[in-house]
Amino acid sequence: MSLTTKFTEVFGVEHPIAQGGMQWVGRAELVAAVANAGGLGFITALTQPTPADLAREIAKTRELTDKPFGVNLTILPSINPPPYDEYRRVIVEEGITIVETAGANPAPHLPMFHDHGIKVLHKCTSVRHAVKAQSLGVDGISIDGFECAGHPGEDDVPGLVLIPAAAKQIEIPMIASGGFADARGLVAALALGADGINMGTRFMCTVESCIHQNVKDAIVAGDERGTELIFRSLRNTSRVASNVVSREVVDILNRGGQFEDISDLVAGVRGRRVFDEGDLDAGIWTVGTVMGLIDDVPTCAELISRITSEAEQLISGRLGGMVTPSESAAVSA
Ligand SMILES: Cc1cc2nc3c(=O)[nH]c(=O)nc-3n(C[C@H](O)[C@H](O)[C@H](O)COP(=O)(O)O)c2cc1C
Repeated sequence: MSLTTKFTEVFGVEHPIAQGGMQWVGRAELVAAVANAGGLGFITALTQPTPADLAREIAKTRELTDKPFGVNLTILPSINPPPYDEYRRVIVEEGITIVETAGANPAPHLPMFHDHGIKVLHKCTSVRHAVKAQSLGVDGISIDGFECAGHPGEDDVPGLVLIPAAAKQIEIPMIASGGFADARGLVAALALGADGINMGTRFMCTVESCIHQNVKDAIVAGDERGTELIFRSLRNTSRVASNVVSREVVDILNRGGQFEDISDLVAGVRGRRVFDEGDLDAGIWTVGTVMGLIDDVPTCAELISRITSEAEQLISGRLGGMVTPSESAAVSA
């Protein structure tokens, strides 16, 4: 038995589970493992230093799987923007069929992707942006609630409200993101009107994720209170692990500091050392509140099969068992 939804049908995957783009984490081994397990994994384009490196990472992923997978293109405000057009060209030339866009309006990228038959799943954090993306013609929406790791936006609306609010207006396939780690989350997302789930933190803490074991151990040991929201006053909020660096950043900004006062603390190279060397206080590193629901480091195959089989049991067992005929129905029957 498997769960068939608008998402699995339109994006051509077996299970309604995606692994969204993750800076430093979304690499070939993880993406291929998710694909081989029947989910939809995304290589993170900007983790690759150059567009040519992205082409090599795509080739490497293809050596590890013959199932569909995608590439995440994160478009964030930046003083020195990466060469987005060149990354986009590599995505097209390498024959990728699914792209996850995030961070900004995907309009400039849509014509080229659609001209080459590429489906676009746009990730956003508000109903208005989801509606806008739908009107631009994207093929699916990934709606990220306040719980999520990374950029939750500035509205602070958690998934329990955001997902059904978006479902009222979104007709194309929509997956729910932020705070999902298990079958209960998947079933809840489906009940709230989504067609599947997207997970970041949960996939970060799997055997095939390339990050240092200390980070995986910290996620298993951590709870749902273990994150900080940085860059609030700069209106570029980001949810990261609570550590000496992120708490200092919050402190400096709360005292009126500006970006230049914290730029050294939040430098990407420092954050990368956390993942490469396992020094949890080397810099800021992204993680979500769902840390509180993560207790192990499974393979992606174990994780996806556990979530889907338990979801099916939950729907037809526990939830199905709660449905009893009403007295009048019983009498008339
Ligand atoms: C380590 C890490 C790095 C991330 N980097 C990106 C990124 O570069 N681009 C992006 O669109 N989302 C990024 N995200 C967000 C995820 O794709 C996903 O939306 C989010 O993790 C969902 O929340 P969850 O962690 O509660 O599952 C990142 C998440 C994590 C945990």
